[in-house]
Formats: sequence, structure tokens, C-alpha cells
Amino acid sequence: MGTVSDIKLIDEKGLRIDGRSPEELRPIKIETDVLNRADGSALIEWGGNKIIAAVYGPREAYPKHNQDINKAVVKARYNMEAYSVDERKRPGPDRRSMEISKVISEALESAIMVEQFPRAQIDIFIEVMQADAGTRIAGLTAAAVAVASAGIPMRDLVTGCTAGKVDGHIVLDLCKEEDNFGQADLPIAVLPKSGKVVLMQMDGDMSVEEFDQATGMVMNAIKRINQIQRDALKNKFETSTGEVGE
Ligand code: CDP
Repeated sequence: MGTVSDIKLIDEKGLRIDGRSPEELRPIKIETDVLNRADGSALIEWGGNKIIAAVYGPREAYPKHNQDINKAVVKARYNMEAYSVDERKRPGPDRRSMEISKVISEALESAIMVEQFPRAQIDIFIEVMQADAGTRIAGLTAAAVAVASAGIPMRDLVTGCTAGKVDGHIVLDLCKEEDNFGQADLPIAVLPKSGKVVLMQMDGDMSVEEFDQATGMVMNAIKRINQIQRDALKNKFETSTGEVGE
């Protein structure tokens, strides 16, 4: 969260630096089955983000001491490629990617029927090929589609979006400049059917009223994003079987 005050992020008409209105999402496109050797996969393009999620499993967890006799272990690994950002990122895991991998794993675990696969492991690889703010949420949203497309039983999908505070205004789905120079960034992910919140992190500060406004905006957007996820899965099942797989 930057503090550069001379960058104008909202104009006189209330429009944002990329021309969007406060509650407008960036374009989102999801495609499933983009990798032949994964059990399930999805490519998400969300604004300037381009992220692939690949799922392998469930298979027997190895080494054995990682096994849980009651449920499958869900292991997501979020990785940002060196070339995905303006300034080359040092390849390999770092504190940020480890934290993101952990919160994404936990969010997915609440959606997957892990109790059906004792001693198993489900691996989910999230590769950020192009980053443009909101990658943890875009990666998680794609990962949920990839898990569903692998045929792994789920209670629900996981759908996410961010809201934030920019030039004193609460806006939806921050772009890179808003993320860098805004006052707050609030990524949230939910299980859309139950409305259960499974990921929430915040950077910056906002009042309780602004927080309520931001979460309200996210919850509205979740419905739209969930529909895009479902359409991607529907396309998959329509293409492969000629029927709608709902
Ligand atoms: O991507 P997300 O918003 O989930 O996480 P963040 O840590 O708030 O990062 C915001 C954005 O900063 C990323 O989406 C990237 O575009 C950028 N970034 C970067 O340029 N270099 C990094 N090492 C990390 C993030």
C-alpha cells in the first residue's frame, strides 16, 4: 500500500484510473482443461492477471507421515513467475508466496469433501504468469474451478473478490495502481451457496462503515463471479458429453 498522494486515482466524474465505475469488475474469463496431464486445470484471465491452476489427485499422501487418517490433505502451492511482474521477481518460494499458499489451501479445504479421502493428498499448483493485483483471489477462484473439473467432490465452489479504499472511496476489484497507491486492500473469498467466508485479509485501514460497504460490494460481485465459474464448468461438461453437467 503506497502513500503517494499526488497520484489521482478517482476523477471528477467518480471514475477510476482505468475508466471503471466504483463497483465495476475487470473482465474475467475462465477456461477449464487447459493442461492434458493434470487431473483438472483452469486458466483465468482477470484484468491483466493470467493464472493457471492445475490439480493432481487425490492420491496416497507421501511421505506417509503427512497422511491424515480422517481426511485428505489439501496442498496448494501459489507461485509467481519471475517474468509475471514489472520488476523481475526472484524465482522460488518466499514468505509472501508461502502465506498465500497456506490461506488458499485452507479456503479450498473447506470446500472439498476431504473426509471422503482419508490418507490422500490433493495437490493444487497455482502459477501466476502475469500479475496485475488480486492474484491470490484470482488464483483461488481458478483453483476451485480446476478442483471441480478434476471431478473431486465439493460442498461448494470457492469464489473471491477484493474491495479497497482509493482516494477515500470504496471500490471493487483493485487494479495495480489502486493496489499500489490506494489506502486499503481487502481480499475476501466465500463459499457462495452458504455465504461462509473462507478467506479474508486486509492491508491498510478503513472505518467500520467503509468495511461494511466494501464487504457488501464483494458479496454482490461474488454472485457474478460464481456464475462465470459455473459457466466455465458447464462449457466443459457440454463439450465432453454433449450434456450440461449440473
Ligand atoms: O496479488 P495480490 O493482490 O493477491 O497480492 P499483493 O501482495 O497485494 O500484490 C499486489 C500486486 O503487486 C500483485 O498482484 C503484483 O501485480 C504486484 N507484485 C509485484 O509486482 N511484485 C511482487 N514481488 C509481488 C507483487
